[in-house]
Amino acid sequence: MPIEWTGFGPELLLQIDRDRPEPLRDQLESALREAIRAGRLATGERLPSSRALARDLGISRGLVTECYAQLQAEGYLVTRPGAATRVAAAASAAASAAASAAASASASAAVRPRPAATAIARVDFRPGLPDVSSFPREDWSRALRHACRDAPAHLLGYTDPYGDRALRDVLAAYLRRVRAAAADGAHTVVCAGYAQGLQLVLRALAGEGVRTVAVEDPGDPDQRVIAATLGLGVVAVPVDEGGIDTGALAATDARVVVVTPAHQSPTGVVLAPERRQALIAWARANDATIVEDDYDAEFRYDREPVGALQGLAPDRVALIGSVSKSLAPGLRLGWILCPPHLSAAIAHHKGLADRGSPIIDQLALADLLRSGRYDRHLRGMRLRYAARRTALVEALRRHAPAVELRGLAAGFHTVAQLPPGTDEQAVVTAARRRSVGLYAMSDYRLEPRPGPAQLVLGYGNLTADAISEGIDTIADLLRGG
Ligand SMILES: Cc1ncc(COP(=O)(O)O)c(C=O)c1O
Repeated sequence: MPIEWTGFGPELLLQIDRDRPEPLRDQLESALREAIRAGRLATGERLPSSRALARDLGISRGLVTECYAQLQAEGYLVTRPGAATRVAAAASAAASAAASAAASASASAAVRPRPAATAIARVDFRPGLPDVSSFPREDWSRALRHACRDAPAHLLGYTDPYGDRALRDVLAAYLRRVRAAAADGAHTVVCAGYAQGLQLVLRALAGEGVRTVAVEDPGDPDQRVIAATLGLGVVAVPVDEGGIDTGALAATDARVVVVTPAHQSPTGVVLAPERRQALIAWARANDATIVEDDYDAEFRYDREPVGALQGLAPDRVALIGSVSKSLAPGLRLGWILCPPHLSAAIAHHKGLADRGSPIIDQLALADLLRSGRYDRHLRGMRLRYAARRTALVEALRRHAPAVELRGLAAGFHTVAQLPPGTDEQAVVTAARRRSVGLYAMSDYRLEPRPGPAQLVLGYGNLTADAISEGIDTIADLLRGG
């Protein structure tokens, strides 16, 4: 769909060179044809009125009208009496084919994505996706309106790469309140979600001489790709029932480790208290840094709250959080609670990356947090996810009671342990044929370690009915059939 520009005529950058011998009319015609062929103007898109374009280019209106008539005759434009001139359908078909070929070429050159979503699945148990249809649109619109209305003009210039100070202070107070973090707005950097946060922290550490990063195995496959693109080596440290194996970590030469202590991704285990202490002792003894991925700590059901590791050692831990689970991943908003000695370097890299996150969004998030609407949204979402979790547990109890669920106490994904001898990938492939998206634990294993057959089931973006339908459809596969 083309953008339907409303209001006054859209502006259009076309270059006319009065020093060239070619007549102005020919130049204008060629420039317009080229803009359509190159996809700068899409099918159905409205052109400026002849009066507006003539004024912008400093040429006569008659000349523009003649050009439009010529391009209409050639099939590039359509004009109806009394209506705007628009790009004709046939004109940009070739251009859009060229554009989509270019897009798919660049997508295939991209770094390895997280386990791919099953595009055609009727019921997709993709982990990591919150209930995006429950995004608090009214609250966010209100917060955006306030931000836009009240932002002082100076904030609309180039601003602090650390992020807006008011948001940083609100975030710090919020994280002190709900995560027992030792947060200080002065050392908080606003970033574009966890993915960017991790890159900024690793860049800062690479600048201090770090060469190897330890990551949890199984873990988020993107981390390995991110570290590799920064030229850092990666060591995979096994995770067991108590979280990351701190003994195995100590045997590596890594000076930074990335962990998910509150709810290990993807196994769902909580880092055991003695391992928390061991991790901090390791960091202190080795002048090392712990990167704490605090990705879904807001959602906890039947277990005691686990405070952030950062609260125990703010000088050694960089906590990264985002609104990707609490609001929506598409907002691309996150934060880093930096160890004080690293905050300037992290903010420096943020400035280099994109000169700071979008200010209106930052102010809106501050407003949402301050107004209490963020907490209210989370309270509602906890109930919703708890109901979905119950639906999953019950569907499995009904249809595949031998399947054991793990890591259910928090977040909105769980690990389903399949009967011994089941082939994980065969189950995934067979389920996809029935239009049910499943994701194998082996997609998250960095080293080929033997392990039980398991699936990582995300239920955050599925209704209770969809969950039941999905499990019902694949019950025989889960039973090992
Ligand atoms: C382990 C883990 N950490 C963090 C995130 C959030 O990433 P981001 O904030 O870049 O959207 C995700 C998203 O799925 C995740 O799986």
